Amino acid sequence: MARAKDHHDGWGSKLGIVLAVAGSAVGLGNFLRFPVQAAQNGGGAFMIPYFVALLLLGIPLSIVEWTIGRYGGQRGHNTAAGAFTELWHWRGAKYLGLFGVFGPWIIYLYYIYIESWTLAFSYFSLSGLYQTATNETAMSGFLQAFQGLAPNSTFPNIGTAYFFFLVTFALNLIVLAGGIQKGIEFVSKVFLPMLFLLAILLVVQIFWLGMPGASNPGWNQLVWQGLGYLWNPDLSRLGDSRVWLAAAGQILFTLSVGIGAIVTYASYLKKDDDVTLSSLSAVGMNEFAEVILGGCLVIPAAFAFFGPAQMAAIAKGGAFNLGFVTMPLVLQQLPWPHLFGFTWFFLLFLAGITSSISLGQPVVAFFQNVWGWRRGKAVLVFGALSFLLSQPAIFWLGRGVVDEMDFWGGTVCLVLFGALEMILFAWVFGMRRGWAEIHHGADVRLHPIFKFVIQYVTPAYLLWLLGFWLYDNAKTTISMAAVAPENRPYVLLTRWMMVGLFVALAVGMRTMLRRRRRIHELEAR
Ligand code: ALA
Repeated sequence: MARAKDHHDGWGSKLGIVLAVAGSAVGLGNFLRFPVQAAQNGGGAFMIPYFVALLLLGIPLSIVEWTIGRYGGQRGHNTAAGAFTELWHWRGAKYLGLFGVFGPWIIYLYYIYIESWTLAFSYFSLSGLYQTATNETAMSGFLQAFQGLAPNSTFPNIGTAYFFFLVTFALNLIVLAGGIQKGIEFVSKVFLPMLFLLAILLVVQIFWLGMPGASNPGWNQLVWQGLGYLWNPDLSRLGDSRVWLAAAGQILFTLSVGIGAIVTYASYLKKDDDVTLSSLSAVGMNEFAEVILGGCLVIPAAFAFFGPAQMAAIAKGGAFNLGFVTMPLVLQQLPWPHLFGFTWFFLLFLAGITSSISLGQPVVAFFQNVWGWRRGKAVLVFGALSFLLSQPAIFWLGRGVVDEMDFWGGTVCLVLFGALEMILFAWVFGMRRGWAEIHHGADVRLHPIFKFVIQYVTPAYLLWLLGFWLYDNAKTTISMAAVAPENRPYVLLTRWMMVGLFVALAVGMRTMLRRRRRIHELEAR
């Protein structure tokens, strides 16, 4: 496997990488996906499988990814495709590691579009553009006009959405072109504290300051009841395996584990840098943002405003409705609605961009490592290809292509790649070496129970998830049984696009590595 050319790129400080990994983790998943998952899957009862998954999947995977990343990075590899060949000296290992490049790229292609909505809505809030939409129907109409799903001449249309997509796209590329320290680390150090501040501000306003008395009497009590709605455990749901699956899926997505992003970030660590305390710190920050802040925003606010019956229907409507329809309506009732609307959407944007850059970096690093390109060229090629490949998510949004990409890239790949890396680390590389590698330069020692968890429990848990998903979903998904007949060609095309991308990456990697080997052989003669 080829090695990095400009390998001197690296983190400027320990805080920098911890914030960058936390930035990767804290994303739209914390503020939009988590509350809906919790509300739909048994409320407080969801938190039992959630914390089980955090302990048995999230934390072990995070520690192992940091370790694999640092280990690979010391040997000149900045992606899982390279790092895997160091864990397992078998030629095919790099193709397994390729999932750690392909998976984040697929997520990037649709994630960045949704991220661009948050920037657009930040602007709409400040300029008061959606203020004429004062009920759910009107606000849904506003969102759909913007998405190009139901054109309406009085609201911004898909042209506006495309403009904000271009801006968001360019911002991501600028950060990536800045490199690890001057781009990613700098942005994470500035944006992450800012997003925490905005989220705390919003929670304080919603819980303690609330609405001005006249516009919604009893608001403060209602908002606490909303918290009860989210957290009251419906224990009967604990017997439902889908609740366990949903919780595990949420943990992987929210912590950005099983993606490949952390392996890449950790590859820029120095040899003796700690991985235990750093990985646990990043996990801790993400959980604070998710459970405390994420849990205190959309559901309690929407509950207080709409009441329990309507709230249940809204939660079923999914994350986009809650974030882009319900929240603007609620926030318009607060004093300074422009400012609070902006606070909400801009905090989502900050959360989004610190995550999307972490999804793009593995691909940029892959081009640098395998093609031997300098960062600028790698970012340019990544940008051009991503631009082309993200068009279906924009123009075929109503055709189910984002769901298709999210299923393969954001769900199946996470479990598959997570299982592969755990097995390679604990069983092929070996737990004895693995345990020593984890603790090399460590600031804290892990309890020995984690050795058992990493070796047996996490891989078994992931294989169970993978098996269950395939058993439960594979047939319906592959046959597109749940997709409307008129949308099937679009979904199929998206699927072939993903297969094509994986094959192109694999063939490109193979060709480049062979060419390099031939050159080395010629030079050695
Ligand atoms: N971890 C990122 C999120 O939660 C991908 O959005």
